[in-house]
Amino acid sequence: MPNLDDIRATLKKHGQEHLLATWDALDPEGRERLLDDLARIDFAWVEARRKDLKAGAAGPGGEIFPAPVVELPKTDADRQQFAKAKAVGEDALRQGKAAAFLVAGGQGTRLGFNGPKGAFPVGPVSGRTLFQWHAEQILARSIRYRSVIPWYIMTSRENDADTKAFFDQNDYFGLARENVVFFQQDMVPCLDLDGKMLLADVDRVAMNPNGHGGSLFGLRTSGALDDMRRRGIEYISYFQVDNPLVTICDPVFLGLHILAGSEMSSKVLMKAAPDERIGVACLQDGKPTVVEYIDMDETSQNAVGPDGRLTFWAGSIAIHIINVPFVERVAGSESLPWHQSRKKVPYFDGARVVKPKTENAVKFETFVFDALPFADAFLNLEVSREHEFAPVKNATGVDSAESSRQLLTRYFAEWLVQAGIPVPFPDNLPSAATGPFLEISPLYALDAEELAGKVKPGGFAVERSLMLG
Ligand code: UTP
Repeated sequence: MPNLDDIRATLKKHGQEHLLATWDALDPEGRERLLDDLARIDFAWVEARRKDLKAGAAGPGGEIFPAPVVELPKTDADRQQFAKAKAVGEDALRQGKAAAFLVAGGQGTRLGFNGPKGAFPVGPVSGRTLFQWHAEQILARSIRYRSVIPWYIMTSRENDADTKAFFDQNDYFGLARENVVFFQQDMVPCLDLDGKMLLADVDRVAMNPNGHGGSLFGLRTSGALDDMRRRGIEYISYFQVDNPLVTICDPVFLGLHILAGSEMSSKVLMKAAPDERIGVACLQDGKPTVVEYIDMDETSQNAVGPDGRLTFWAGSIAIHIINVPFVERVAGSESLPWHQSRKKVPYFDGARVVKPKTENAVKFETFVFDALPFADAFLNLEVSREHEFAPVKNATGVDSAESSRQLLTRYFAEWLVQAGIPVPFPDNLPSAATGPFLEISPLYALDAEELAGKVKPGGFAVERSLMLG
């Protein structure tokens, strides 16, 4: 057990001795828990964040320009280039050079779901969970390419046990256990608005996961990068837990990334509106970056080019291909900037846990896209929103379970129509409450072409909700 006197001295030095105010009332287990939390804290980091807090959020930096983007194919030459890229990506997949990497350590506060976000049901008909959806896609792709696609999953202290238990209960959704590797990201303390650390409970320090930027460091410190090297992995297909439309290890994206010699590539899409709350792919000081919506001034947000299109149109959807050596380099020698966000953080006030009604603390996080400026070469690939983006962020409304169900249905309607199966509502979103809904398991068909090979044109018509696979 860490030494109490040492910790008391450290806390005093940093003006955080209030964290031991409950010490005398704690039982031995409580004392052990609290000391264990305190022993893990890097107080030099806390000091640095206190200074950041006083200085306010970092400024937006140098002038920004729109980043170059490989746009959706429009000409035959584009289509040929994409076909060539697909062959290159497929080759890498056949040779087992790509891994899937899911960041699932977030707190999912907006969704407010009780459990890891990946256990949230998104299947419009079956209610299959996000984890199952991703697992089936990885399984289907490894079957298609007759190779192992290892799946690395980052959790956090808050959801690690529940996530692993969920995989266990579901028999890893048919995946081989040795090819699913979990690791936990680090936690960092949150600070109140005066820079003081908080107790989350009588014997726990209030902390939060260190942001998805922590994934690059977590890959290194957990040994996952070593595991990748042992397996001959060169490319990491990075994705977030909440988007069932993500194409994991997308061969076209992977191939374009390889052909461009890129170290870190990103998928982008046309922003739905100037004020859509989504980061934009930009160049700043000549380097690729993502400028968050809160950091972009209104003039830039609304700027329109001669073609009538938003100047800063390319919204980043947090889907990346990242090279293993690049992660090694960044995680070994760089540090990513700490972003601040004000939150309502429950805290122990000496007698009970208080749930504040207003923002009382600041959460610090790093973001994975802040690695982009360190890349010697990068690529942004435009994708269509309808095909690649149906995130579940909120309980209702925009980017919610309801909207995701509708978008998935419209997407699968498109596949069915292409395969010659009449759908009475091909272009319309179904009613969020009653459907009809459509769902195709990745194990039944990974894409429209595979579906077309499995059904007979006109073989049946869709009249009500339908699930294939
Ligand atoms: P979000 O930024 O949407 O955060 O994460 P969240 O925690 O899921 O949800 P809110 O903001 O509390 O409502 C985007 C992705 O990054 C992961 C999340 O699990 C999600 O897949 N993430 C986020 C981490 O893995 N770790 C973090 O520290 C933060």
